[in-house]
Amino acid sequence: MDRQRDLELILRSRTPIVVIETRDESRMLDLIRSITVSRASTSYMPLFRWTVTDGLQRLDISLEPQLHNAAPSEVLRHIRAVAKPGIYVLLDFHPYLDDPVNVRLLKDICIQFESVARHLVFISHSVSLPKELEAFSARFDMALPSEKEREEIVERVTADWANENPPSKVNVDPKAHRLLVQNLAGLTDRDTEQLARNAIYDDGAISRSDLSQVMQAKYELLNRGGVLQFEYDTRKFSDIGGLTGLKTWLSHRKTALLGPQSVPTLDMPKGILLIGVQGCGKSLAAKASAAIFGVPLLRLDFGSLYDKYHGETERKLRESLKTSDVMAPCVLWIDEIEKGLAGRDSETGTSQRVLGTFLTWLAEKRTRVFVVATANDISVLPPELVRKGRFDEIFFVDLPRGAIRKSIFQIHLASRNQDPAKFELDQLAKETRGFSGAEIEQAIVSAIYAAQARRSTLNSQFILAEIKRTRPLSVVMAERIDELRRWAKDRTVACD
Ligand SMILES: Nc1ncnc2c1ncn2[C@@H]1O[C@H](COP(=O)(O)OP(=O)(O)OP(=O)(O)O)[C@@H](O)[C@H]1O
Ligand SMILES: [Mg+2]
Repeated sequence: MDRQRDLELILRSRTPIVVIETRDESRMLDLIRSITVSRASTSYMPLFRWTVTDGLQRLDISLEPQLHNAAPSEVLRHIRAVAKPGIYVLLDFHPYLDDPVNVRLLKDICIQFESVARHLVFISHSVSLPKELEAFSARFDMALPSEKEREEIVERVTADWANENPPSKVNVDPKAHRLLVQNLAGLTDRDTEQLARNAIYDDGAISRSDLSQVMQAKYELLNRGGVLQFEYDTRKFSDIGGLTGLKTWLSHRKTALLGPQSVPTLDMPKGILLIGVQGCGKSLAAKASAAIFGVPLLRLDFGSLYDKYHGETERKLRESLKTSDVMAPCVLWIDEIEKGLAGRDSETGTSQRVLGTFLTWLAEKRTRVFVVATANDISVLPPELVRKGRFDEIFFVDLPRGAIRKSIFQIHLASRNQDPAKFELDQLAKETRGFSGAEIEQAIVSAIYAAQARRSTLNSQFILAEIKRTRPLSVVMAERIDELRRWAKDRTVACD
């Protein structure tokens, strides 16, 4: 009811163009239809709907579509020529807003609005109006269902299932039910109901196992055509050698991130920046943080945001950040953040604006989105990004020390069905001083191939032979690593 009143107020405010971004087109049309009916007694306005396939069609009384008005410029010329007030709902008109002829026609209709009130309502999943039309327009946000309304939708679907499957009742795990209602936030009524239906109808139960499926389906609904990736492959901290300091730091923040928001003594964690030597587990740690919090992992590749069209890059970033806000609680992983921010398009200022958009969002963020950004190359890292207070903490991921190298050997041998107890782990750790985790893993992989070629079983000797053959990064890039450590000394904390 309130939504109807809000929209009616916008229409009454004598704004010629109303923009509605929604995927729930039919519900929006119903809403507009009920407005025209309810105001019929005071000032009657005919209601029309236009689509490029059906042309213009009267909605308040039943008349055939007028196919001759299918072309976008034709329908605008037609509306401009009509001397009576009316409401024209244009569905999916957004691709035609780039055409200067259409822009001019729309402007004419808007300018004449005082004498003939022809309302134009654009409904699409996304609409960006040309600048010259913005002054004539208002946006209507279709409010999304509240927590109480979501609960009602879940109740309704639960009752439907029980009606269709007597005498059974839906088996409800109360905690999963609460999380389901929470996780459905940010979707339209129709999508909320659809996801609730998927969760309940597969097995007649609301259980923990429904939750991750709901989050994946939700991500797919929200991110159509977007650049945000849902990472299915999360890792556990037990897959990582070292980084225990980071692990402890993260576990201490779990309650503040996920607990009730009524605990004002704890600031909501914003996120961390991981800087360090290549192949030492930064990406791995980003994946494991989602597992520690037990929330979905979304990956934003800054490199893929770049678009040659003016303004598109920031729009994609804003949309991705908005999607992650709606997906909260979640971890937003921005891998190799410096690659998206360094130098590119610096003459047009795009990277500056992208950085600005991101930092503003990070500073103002109130949602349970935890950012894990990673970077290798400090020489191109914008200073604004590493200034104190941007992230909760900046961690430095260094080459692994002896004991940690030993545990990395254990982890990677075990993951390849080898019994670590059968290897000379101390010696292997000693011989791999200056190796990264990735290089240790690579030595094991190559040794397995070498052993197979000799039709022999893997042993320490095969691995030692591979180690001798490797020139680790710490040798090849000694200077850069030194520089990185020097830089990190006063700016970061160690991970272990
Ligand atoms: N500390 C570690 N414990 C276990 N495995 C590790 C560790 N560090 C690296 N590895 C292995 O090396 C691979 C590469 O590591 P990862 O991608 O996390 O490194 P990175 O720091 O993100 O490197 P880059 O800077 O190149 O992106 C991992 O998938 C893992 O198998
Ligand atoms: Mg990485």
